[in-house]
Formats: sequence, structure tokens, C-alpha cells
Amino acid sequence: MSDTHIRNLRPGDEAGFLEVQSETFRGLEYLPRVRIGLPGLIPEGSFIAEKNGTMVGCIGVIKLGHEGWFEIRNLAVRDPDLGGLARELLTSALEYVYMQNPQYVKGYTHAVQPYVDLYKHAGFEPLRRIVRIGWDFPITYPVEQNMVETRGLTKDFADEAADVWVEGLRPFWDWWIEEEGGSKEVADWVKESVTKDQGWIGAFLSGKLVGLSILRPDSYGLGEARFNGAYALPGFRGRGVGSALMRATIQEATRLKQKRMKIYTLACLDHLAPGAILYLKSQGRIEAEYLQLQKKN
Ligand SMILES: CC(C)(COP(=O)(O)OP(=O)(O)OC[C@H]1O[C@@H](n2cnc3c(N)ncnc32)[C@H](O)[C@@H]1OP(=O)(O)O)[C@@H](O)C(=O)NCCC(=O)NCCS
Repeated sequence: MSDTHIRNLRPGDEAGFLEVQSETFRGLEYLPRVRIGLPGLIPEGSFIAEKNGTMVGCIGVIKLGHEGWFEIRNLAVRDPDLGGLARELLTSALEYVYMQNPQYVKGYTHAVQPYVDLYKHAGFEPLRRIVRIGWDFPITYPVEQNMVETRGLTKDFADEAADVWVEGLRPFWDWWIEEEGGSKEVADWVKESVTKDQGWIGAFLSGKLVGLSILRPDSYGLGEARFNGAYALPGFRGRGVGSALMRATIQEATRLKQKRMKIYTLACLDHLAPGAILYLKSQGRIEAEYLQLQKKN
């Protein structure tokens, strides 16, 4: 491999990084999502592989919300014959992480080979799957009347929405709350971002806020919506709150002239979580599957 070398990520690598992702996964990757993650990569821990001056591989490392928590992601090598190079990139990222006295090391990859095995051979064990579910609009969602009322949430609901979101995430997303730094950080973000017309939709039963959904129009580009999910308080699940929120979300996305909507949601290792089931039943379809793993010492 005398004509290949590995170096740190540096400014100006963004376009090449995205191209490597696109070619390696043959269009399976959703590049707008990778793009918004690029500024979070730690340059000293993220690496580029070059062959004869062309970028052929890459890997990224980010910090999670607690001291010493790291995630290794975006491992990709364009040419399948360069499996050895992928291993070297992973080793480089791990060497960086291990110099930081890590408390928790996670891996995040497309659930395709050889990447899953590369992580496993490096001592990682699967934790959970993440599925990317997408909707292409227009979608005609069945009109169904139930007791659940939905409407956009304004600033007045910011504190209540923060509580409902944190409780609505549990227990499926406890791990994510921790990765974000804890429930206070998550709640503070809600309080800052619930404002008029910003895609926060509340579900009410007898006037009480029992669930919400988060639509972020144009987040991935014009007409490309990000969906941050539908949530029902644990005591109010299985009563149509989720379906009502999906109906309202799809309606709102259509009103805002969105062409597509994507969510990255949880699937356990051997079954789908209720959120993924709700989305499939709301005419979303699984576009790609990812695997999250944890490094065991
Ligand atoms: C996902 C969630 C919002 C669903 O809300 P809900 O109010 O329970 O959903 P509904 O009662 O409207 O049910 C919607 C559909 O999903 C199905 N469904 C919901 N929960 C299910 C479960 N645990 N197992 C199987 N199917 C389920 C229902 O059968 C229903 O289908 P149907 O209309 O054909 O009967 C709720 O389970 C939740 O808050 N989960 C935790 C938060 C979460 O993970 N959200 C997704 C984040 S990306």
C-alpha cells in the first residue's frame, strides 16, 4: 500500500468526504444528514485515506454529551479491495480515542459488510439498530376522527413540552438522553426551540398535552424535512395519540411544501420499536439500516 496514506481530516475535505460516503454505499447514504454532522467531527481523531492524491476512505469521531464519551462513525472506503485500509482507518480513530482516556466508545455504521465485521473484529458489540424511514410527498393520509386534538405548540407550552418530550422519550431513548448529556440538556433545548410555527405539534386529550411531534421543514435542504419523531406520554400510549400526530405532521409538511421527510429511528436488535411501527403504518418506508455498537475492553 505504498501509494496510499492516512492523514487527519482538514478544512476543505467536506466534498470529498461526502463523495466517498456516496460511492462506498452506492447511494444508500443520505448525504444531507452526513453533511450536517461534518462540523462536529474532531479533526485530530478523524482521518482521510488518500491513494495517488485521491480521497479513497474516511472515518470520523465525535464527542458525545458526557466527558470521555466518543462515537466513531462514517467509516467508508471506496474500493472494496481496500478492506485493509478500512481497518487501518478504524485503528487510527481508536488510537486517538484511547489517548483521551475514554469512558464509553461507540461505533455507528451502515449495517452492511465489511463494516459490521470490521467493528466486531476491533472489539465492538452490537447495541441497537437505527432505521432511516422516509416519506415522499404527497401522501394522502386517511382521515380518521378520534378524541385526540392536535395543534401547533407556541412558546406558552415550552415548559410543558419539555416535560412531555423527556417523558415521551422513555424508556426507548434513555440511552440517547444520556448521550445528549442528560434530561436537563434535552429539556433546555426544547424550551429554547418551541416557538410559533416551528414544527412542534401537540396532541391533547381533554385539554391535557399528552404527546408531541417535531417537524423541521427544510432542515436537510429546500423541501427536505427532518422529522424528529412522535412521542406519547407512557400512560397514554396505544390510544391513537401517535396516529393523530402522524396525520397532523404529514398535513403540516404538505402545507409547508416539503417534498420529502426523513427520520432516523430506533430498532432494537431483534425487533422494531413502536415508533418504527407507527411510521411504517403511516406510509413511511425503510430506506436504510444502521448499527450502533459499543467497544468492550
Ligand atoms: C411511538 C408512539 C408515539 C406510538 O404512539 P401511540 O399513541 O401508542 O400509537 P397509536 O396508538 O396511535 O398506534 C399507532 C399504530 O402503531 C401501532 N403500535 C403502536 N405501538 C405499538 C406496539 N408497542 N407494538 C405494535 N404496534 C404498535 C398500533 O397498533 C397502531 O396501528 P393501527 O393504527 O394499525 O392499530 C409511542 O409508542 C411512544 O411514545 N413511544 C416512545 C417514543 C418513541 O420512541 N417515539 C419515536 C421516536 S423516533
